[in-house]
Amino acid sequence: MSRVFSGVQPTGNIHIGNYLGALKQFVELQNDHDCIYCIVDMHSITVPQDPKELKKHILDVAALYLAVGLDPEKSIVFVQSDVSGHAELAWILMCNSYTGELSRMTQFKQKSKERESAPAGLFTYPILMAADILLYDTNIVPVGNDQKQHIELTRDIAIRVNNTYGETFVVPDGRFLKEGARIMALDDPLSKMSKSAPNAFSRISLLDDAAKVKKSIMRATTDSEGSVRFDPENKPGVSNLLTIYSVFSGIAIADLEKQYDGQGYGALKKDLVEVVQQNLEPIQKRYNEIRNSQELVNILRDGAERAEIIAEKTLARVKDRFGLGL
Ligand code: AMP
Ligand code: TRP
Repeated sequence: MSRVFSGVQPTGNIHIGNYLGALKQFVELQNDHDCIYCIVDMHSITVPQDPKELKKHILDVAALYLAVGLDPEKSIVFVQSDVSGHAELAWILMCNSYTGELSRMTQFKQKSKERESAPAGLFTYPILMAADILLYDTNIVPVGNDQKQHIELTRDIAIRVNNTYGETFVVPDGRFLKEGARIMALDDPLSKMSKSAPNAFSRISLLDDAAKVKKSIMRATTDSEGSVRFDPENKPGVSNLLTIYSVFSGIAIADLEKQYDGQGYGALKKDLVEVVQQNLEPIQKRYNEIRNSQELVNILRDGAERAEIIAEKTLARVKDRFGLGL
C-alpha cells in the first residue's frame, strides 16, 4: 500500500479552505492507503507563538483531525515535536540544499516581507517540511495548491541525495485537488482564505457558529453583474462561492449554474449558508465530544510511538549513507 503523509500547522482558526483543500482528502485516502497525519508544531514556531496558546492549538487541531473523520485505527495521527527524527533529518537535508533555492520560495518571500527581520527558521521551513515527508518514505502528499513549490523542493532534494549517496529516499508526489485546492477569502476573492487575515469574516472556521457562518457568507464580496456563473477570472467572488458550494454538497458546478440561472446572488448565498452549516454541524459535535478527553491524548501518544518506529528506520539508513555516527 502506498504511504501518504501530510501535516497542518496548529495555529488556530482551521478554516473551510484547510478542510476542502487538505483535510477532506486526508479522510478519503485513509481507506486504501497507509496514512500518517501530523500536527506540525515545529513549523508554527517559525513565527512567534504564545506557548500556552500553541499547546491549546495542538489539541484543537488533533481534535479536528478526528472530528472530520480521521480514524486512529486506520491512520497514524501524531505531533511533530514528539518524534525527534524530524529535526535531525532536517539538519542533514539542510546541508544538501542551497540558499538560492530557498530564496525562491514564494511563501518565504511573502512572510519575510511582513516583518523587519526574518528568523532563520522561516527561511529553512521548507526543509523541515521535506524532512517530514522523506522521513516516512512517503509516496503521496495531499496538500492545497499553495504547497506545490515546497513539494517540488522536497523532490529536488530527494533526487539530489539519491544521486550523490545512492538510493536513500522515496521521491514523493504531491496530490492536489482540482476543486477546493484553493479556496479564496470571502472578503477578497483574489487572496487565498487564510488563518491569519485580520478580518474574521474573510474565512469560515470549522468551529464557527451558525450566526458567524451566515454573516460571513452574506457579506461575501461578489460583483455587480448579478448572474450566477463560474468564471474565476472575471467573477472571482461568485466562482469561489460556487466552488465551496460544489465541494461541500457534491453537486457539480455546471448543475449549480443551471439551478441558479436567473436568480440573484441572494438565493445562492442563502442556500450556501445552509449547506455549510449542515456540513459543519457533525464536525463540531464530534469535536466537542473529544477535545478535552483523555482519549485524544492517548491517540496522539500512540501515534507518536508508531511514527517513531518508522522514522528511526529511515534515519538509520540515512546516517549510514552519509557515514554519520559510529
Ligand atoms: P496550513 O494552515 O498552512 O498549515 O495549511 C494546512 C493545509 O491546508 C495545507 O495543505 C494547505 O495547502 C491547505 N490550505 C491552506 N489554505 C488553503 C486555502 N485557502 N484553500 C485550500 N487549501 C488551503
Ligand atoms: N507547510 C505546510 C503548510 O503550511 C504544512 C506542512 C508541514 C506539511 N510539513 C508538511 C504539509 C509535510 C505536508 C507534508 O500547509
